[in-house]
Amino acid sequence: EYKYFFQFPLPLPSTKSPLKTFTNPATGNPIDYYEVDIKPVEQQLYPGLGKTRLVGYDGQVPGPTFRMTQGREAIVRFINHADRANSVHLHGSYSRAPFDGWAEDTTEPGQYKDYYYPNVQAARTLWYHDHAIDHTAENAYFGQAGFYILSDPEEQALNLPSGKYEVALGLSSRRYNKDGSLWDPEKNGEKTSIYGDVFHVNGQPWPYLKVEPRKYRFRFLNSAVSRSFELSLVEDTKTSTKIPMTVIGSDTGLLLNSVQTTDLDISMAERWEVVIDFASYAGKNLTFKNVGDIGADTKYAGTDRVMRFVVGTVVTSTENNGPIPSKLRDVPFPPFKTTVDRHFRFESSGGQWKINGVTWADEANRVMAKPLRGAIEVWELENSSGGWTHPIHIHLIDFQIISRTGGQRNTVLPYEKVALKDVVWLGKGETVKVIARYAPWDGLYMFHCHNLIHEDHEMMAAFNVTGLED
Ligand code: C2O
Ligand code: CU
Repeated sequence: EYKYFFQFPLPLPSTKSPLKTFTNPATGNPIDYYEVDIKPVEQQLYPGLGKTRLVGYDGQVPGPTFRMTQGREAIVRFINHADRANSVHLHGSYSRAPFDGWAEDTTEPGQYKDYYYPNVQAARTLWYHDHAIDHTAENAYFGQAGFYILSDPEEQALNLPSGKYEVALGLSSRRYNKDGSLWDPEKNGEKTSIYGDVFHVNGQPWPYLKVEPRKYRFRFLNSAVSRSFELSLVEDTKTSTKIPMTVIGSDTGLLLNSVQTTDLDISMAERWEVVIDFASYAGKNLTFKNVGDIGADTKYAGTDRVMRFVVGTVVTSTENNGPIPSKLRDVPFPPFKTTVDRHFRFESSGGQWKINGVTWADEANRVMAKPLRGAIEVWELENSSGGWTHPIHIHLIDFQIISRTGGQRNTVLPYEKVALKDVVWLGKGETVKVIARYAPWDGLYMFHCHNLIHEDHEMMAAFNVTGLED
């Protein structure tokens, strides 16, 4: 029985700095150059147990946070000092295919690879994580995941809470052995899911964060391997009243307009940004509860709660504490249509996770779509695997969720309606249609379930953007 709920402060990952700046010979523009060492680290994580061995970017878990500005290109050299191969995916970036973390494009121990990131998209919360063939779950679970935050002038002009009032919250869920080491999904032959019974935020089990009674901007990322969250915020002494939060952003940046909600569903790899106003809760404790009745997740003693906010009584700065505008930005939604161009079934058969009956290992059949560059396509994603849920991620593009039928939810959620996304949660029995423009580059890209155990056990396929736009 865990006695340490909300006893340790929320860790804030360090910010990554470039080592030098080059000039792009083609454009004359500056390119910032970074280096990241992928290496083992031991950390005291679970109180009362031994240290936990992890492998993280720069030996940090989560990895250091990249803070990038739109229009400023970057090259990041990832140097592998770990004992197994890796591949780095910048999730949310329309990177060119050679820099997208293709599963078989692995960097072996002792090698490095330079990744080029254009940073020209609109402001958004990205994350970088391992994507190595067959070992993504293991590598991400042991620590290879970090934030990469892109800002742009339009977003800056909204004067949203910033500086210490803007906090990234990376959720994960793990399971410990009695000696403090992590229960290892690969060594234990886990082929379905690792739900985990210990929730972490920024690597710390069940932390607390001291806040001032004013507005904060939080960037949620669910970096768990298999666990989905359904969050609601309550006062500790009034747990039946859910406190409203204002959703302002999704996987791909700001929403069309802000949306009030008391419940936030976050499946694996999803990002949601919310503004919470603590002004009426001075001196109180608020807790993020996890309802957990939509995913396939197993419940344990502490999985009904995530973290606590300890609200102080003093506001030290009222900067960027104004009203949140209703209209946030012009979101580039694709022109509307509903005719289905492709249909994908996410299913399990013969002890393997498959898409339309095909596994990633089936190289002859795994390229399942060849959209013309620039084409607008509707993909219908069907969960035909009974009680399982699958967060589906499509690389390269941003999509709009145009319908969700079946299952418990049976609707596009209010904050999903005004968002572009790169992951959509396919709940039990659900079928979802997503529309996107397959651009801007040609190339071979992956799409897959972001339950990383499913991904490693073959629920992954590819699409090849080809041809001429005009
Ligand atoms: Cu976040 Cu293909 O992954
Ligand atoms: Cu899945």
